[in-house]
Amino acid sequence: MANKKKSQRTEENLRNERRFMIGPRLSFAGAEAYKLLRTNIMFSFSDHNSTDGKVIGVTSSIPGEGKSMTMINLAYTFAESRKRVLLIEGDMRLPTMANRLRLRQAPGLSDLMVGLNDIGDAVQHFTTAKEGAEPVTIDIIVAGTIPPNPSELMGSARLDALLGVLRKTYDYIFLDQPPVTAVTDALITAPKTDGTIIVVRNNHASRGALADTMRQLRLVDAHILGFVYNGASDDSRKYYKKGYYKKGYYKKT
Ligand SMILES: Nc1ncnc2c1ncn2[C@@H]1O[C@H](COP(=O)(O)OP(=O)(O)OP(=O)(O)O)[C@@H](O)[C@H]1O
Ligand SMILES: [Mg+2]
Repeated sequence: MANKKKSQRTEENLRNERRFMIGPRLSFAGAEAYKLLRTNIMFSFSDHNSTDGKVIGVTSSIPGEGKSMTMINLAYTFAESRKRVLLIEGDMRLPTMANRLRLRQAPGLSDLMVGLNDIGDAVQHFTTAKEGAEPVTIDIIVAGTIPPNPSELMGSARLDALLGVLRKTYDYIFLDQPPVTAVTDALITAPKTDGTIIVVRNNHASRGALADTMRQLRLVDAHILGFVYNGASDDSRKYYKKGYYKKGYYKKT
């Protein structure tokens, strides 16, 4: 019974996401907030001379702060500006991308890293369009077959090698990750990325949890690009009605 209720809620969430929260379905204010975030991220890398693509990770203190949602929309917003964009689902414990975007569950990242598949087999395409506008396509590698040892895989040299190859093809690679206080994955991968974004959701993590997250990220020398404030409350339906989807970006100085 509890499971049934939970799955119904999830289905409702997914429907709401597709109707109101992904790419071209975002409100004007939401789309503008993502464009501002895009500009700030691009400027953060303006002094990088290498032509290799940039890898941007995301994390948060606790589960459910909106990381995956932020990464989908950020990838969409970069792709809209004709950048070559790849979204990688680096959360191999609780993958959601395939379900959310109606993609194949596998092959994905885990299958690539253990050598079961080639990059070409694992990259899927999510195409979406605003009415009357050119379609926008994001390439996506979903988590894939759930492995017994996600942290080991994320820490392995195989991920570095894979990112090295992908950097030659894409301008921006967005790496979706689990929260810091749940598992170590985001701390393990932070040094492999060019920067980390921290999503903070309204009324979710405590100050203490966020401070702890920051301390742990600093310990691994993560380059913190900034914070995304996800203004959605738990009862997000009222926000859909108002078309409220506010995000702020505060660049670390
Ligand atoms: N701005 C928003 N407005 C309304 N609902 C939102 C918003 N951001 C996230 N949500 C909802 O909150 C739930 C969690 O979002 P999401 O999966 O992106 O979080 P997450 O941080 O990736 O979670 P996890 O830690 O489990 O990976 C989803 O059901 C999503 O639809
Ligand atoms: Mg997620």
